[in-house]
Amino acid sequence: VTFTVEDHAGNRQPIEAPDDMGLSLMEILKASEYPVLATCGGMALCATCHVEVLEGKDGLGDATDVELDQLEALPEYYPTSRLACQVRISDELEGAVIKLRGEDN
Ligand code: FES
Repeated sequence: VTFTVEDHAGNRQPIEAPDDMGLSLMEILKASEYPVLATCGGMALCATCHVEVLEGKDGLGDATDVELDQLEALPEYYPTSRLACQVRISDELEGAVIKLRGEDN
């Protein structure tokens, strides 16, 4: 599957990821060397993997209550915010545009 990632500086780059391995968006972002802290290792506990889905949200399914709790605790979040660790890489991500919103370091 191919989707686009926008970094903190606003640069966009296409990312190709396998959609049959059960990986999370957070894992792919880290593997692609984006600055995603993912302090909790993907447990929906730290929200450092915060992303905003600029395009293509509909295919991603709904956030769970646990995920929403984390997002709502952030100083700033958006109607299409997600925790990247809770988004599975699937063919539904085709053409999506994902903007990094987590801490930048
Ligand atoms: Fe911690 Fe996603 S990695 S909430």
